[in-house]
Amino acid sequence: MSGQLVLAIESSCDETGIALVEGGRRIHSNIVASQIALHAATGGIVPEVAARAHLRWIVPVLDEALDAAGVKLGDVDAVAVTFGPGLAGSLLVGINFAKALAWVHDKPLVGVNHLEGHIYAAWLLDPGKAEREPPPFPLVALVVSGGHTFLVEMRDHLTYRLLGQTVDDAAGEAFDKVGRLLGLGYPGGPAIMRAAQDATRHDVAFPRAWLGDTYDFSFSGLKTAARRTVEGALADARNGNGHVEPADLPPATTAELAWGFQESVVDVLATKTIRAAEATGARSIVLGGGVAANEVLRRRIAGAAGELRLPLIVPRPGLCTDNGAMIGAAAARRLEAGERARWDLDASPSLPLATR
Ligand code: KG4
Ligand code: ZN
Repeated sequence: MSGQLVLAIESSCDETGIALVEGGRRIHSNIVASQIALHAATGGIVPEVAARAHLRWIVPVLDEALDAAGVKLGDVDAVAVTFGPGLAGSLLVGINFAKALAWVHDKPLVGVNHLEGHIYAAWLLDPGKAEREPPPFPLVALVVSGGHTFLVEMRDHLTYRLLGQTVDDAAGEAFDKVGRLLGLGYPGGPAIMRAAQDATRHDVAFPRAWLGDTYDFSFSGLKTAARRTVEGALADARNGNGHVEPADLPPATTAELAWGFQESVVDVLATKTIRAAEATGARSIVLGGGVAANEVLRRRIAGAAGELRLPLIVPRPGLCTDNGAMIGAAAARRLEAGERARWDLDASPSLPLATR
């Protein structure tokens, strides 16, 4: 594949990611320094700590990305960076780093919306992997991350029509909160998925917020229901035995609750995505964002899409969670469209992707 070689930088949240991507598809290298261990102690992200960790890791991550791809800064055609949405301090580290690199090496700079990056991860090809057709338009994309949950229709590159979004918590946020309630640690998503695999009874039912026939989502009621159920389970476990922490609940109980919660989230996400694809006449479905790493969600949507003979494109889990390559994929389209960021590019913490 031939095309521009983009150096792409992602630092909007708690992963420092730098990648080299050719032609918006072919990954040459994709290095991610995760802050998960750093934030596990506090059970969530502390913005100041995240920004400082980006500063600490961004140079070594760049060196590793260049080494792994076997290129020098002079070889790249453009520098791309996430400028929103995300944590202001974290975004600024990446933006200023990208500006300095672009300025010193006289390369064009392009700003990318992080959410657009999650969608464009579906176009990426790993090193050495065979070429495949890009997702055909029109398509429906479900983006489910720690900060966002929405469905958009794309009839062409870089054009988004918002079909629905969460009216309260993001799906990933709900996973993280319920993970904490169950004493499963941070981040809750992967921990709940693992715990749920051990469930055997499969008979707890948590509520689903359908919100009529809209494509909107709501997870706050589910979170409250989960809290009540966990409190009930703790009271049962206590049964005159003094204090019991969530981490001390019987593993079978934790597994059942994790399963029930995950089922509820997956059911609503999958049902609405499939309905949106049918209603808009989509020719493919794309999933992106950290929660798209969830195996049950992937399987559920794959099954329903298969029945409709609709291709489903879901990046491998490492490309669903935050990374630089997805920014490089989206950047190629923006560069192709002639977009260039100015030297006063600033962090845009609540940058939207699409409006209704
Ligand atoms: O996209 P991402 O890496 O960062 C944001 O842009 O927010 O998403 C992180 C979110 C976290 O809430 C995490 O718990 C969730 O994705 N997540 C998962 C799984 N892996 C990560 N949720 C459910 N199942 C998973 N396997
Ligand atoms: Zn993300």
